Amino acid sequence: MASASATNTPLPDLRIGWIGLGSMGGAMAKNIHKYLLSQGRQPIRFFNRTASRGDALEAIGGIRCKDVTQVARESDVIFISASDDKAVKSIVYQILDLGDVADKIVVDTTTIHPDTTKELAAKLSNKGAGFAATPVFGATPVAEEGRLLVAFGGSTAVYEKVAPFLKDVIAREVLVVGEKPEKASLLKTTGNFLMAGLMELIAEGHVFAEKTGLGSAALERLLELNFGPVAYSDSVRMTTGVYAPGRDQAPWSDLDLGLKDVGHGIDCAGRTGVELKVANVAFENMKRAKEYSDKNGGRKLDSSSLYGIVREQAGLDFRTEVVQKRDEEK
Ligand SMILES: NC(=O)c1ccc[n+]([C@@H]2O[C@H](COP(=O)([O-])OP(=O)(O)OC[C@H]3O[C@@H](n4cnc5c(N)ncnc54)[C@H](OP(=O)(O)O)[C@@H]3O)[C@@H](O)[C@H]2O)c1
Repeated sequence: MASASATNTPLPDLRIGWIGLGSMGGAMAKNIHKYLLSQGRQPIRFFNRTASRGDALEAIGGIRCKDVTQVARESDVIFISASDDKAVKSIVYQILDLGDVADKIVVDTTTIHPDTTKELAAKLSNKGAGFAATPVFGATPVAEEGRLLVAFGGSTAVYEKVAPFLKDVIAREVLVVGEKPEKASLLKTTGNFLMAGLMELIAEGHVFAEKTGLGSAALERLLELNFGPVAYSDSVRMTTGVYAPGRDQAPWSDLDLGLKDVGHGIDCAGRTGVELKVANVAFENMKRAKEYSDKNGGRKLDSSSLYGIVREQAGLDFRTEVVQKRDEEK
């Protein structure tokens, strides 16, 4: 399958709905909405549980719906971006409550367990609805730029309808995994434990650079020049203090969501007799970071906050000077 932009497929005249305007969903919905308007199509319809998170989209012409059911009733393609399996299940059940969902397509961008994806795909298919799992790779700033990597799991018929809203709208590329939606969730899960392992390694590298006197600037430049954009971005999350955001800032990627994501990978691997040793080291440090958050008034932490724990294990403060200075300025 090729992307719509590669095949020059005309944009299908579909009503697009979006449920879930968190860090990722808000950015993706805005990019699709702007694309729809640029093509002379109807604005995006949207719903978010916390209404205020829809204000920005409404201000640029998005149509606010009162609940999930209204979005589903008034849309042909319904995108979802929620936090976890429980949230996506609850949203899909509300869509199914509509009764007649035949010919509607549900597209889930959330990171959920492959078993949940499989279960929801079957429920929707039994009612005649199409379904695709399209989990995304890239943090919030990448979503804002419309430069995510999307994994696509779903039928060719669904792909042809949905593709025009993916590449060059929310994504730099679409990685088609196959007809089974759960395969896309499995790829995302694989990416997550690779990502957690890489974060652990970079955290250890930065602590090493600090304690030996090499300095984080030299290491960061090496990561930029020799290890690629993902490693560099992880490094920036640590050196600029993104790993421990200020009290008025949202994390790029919430630690709780990171724990869920890496946990899915460890679970899937464990069931096939594979032990993800590196992922387990990262997972344990992420759990310790969660304990740090609990002890510090529930301070929101980024999924890269295992860096603070690696620092503590080497006798350094959880908070770098950058974070301490920023905290004191508040
Ligand atoms: N952030 C990243 O860097 C990143 C990167 C790749 C993938 N992901 C994945 O993308 C998904 C979204 O991440 P995010 O960072 O955008 O999370 P987020 O900012 O925490 O947003 C979560 C969204 O889910 C909604 N939600 C939660 N529980 C719900 C429920 N029971 N019913 C209805 N809506 C519910 C929230 O609504 P409220 O506003 O009402 O709370 C919010 O819109 C997650 O699965 C995450 O693992 C994140």
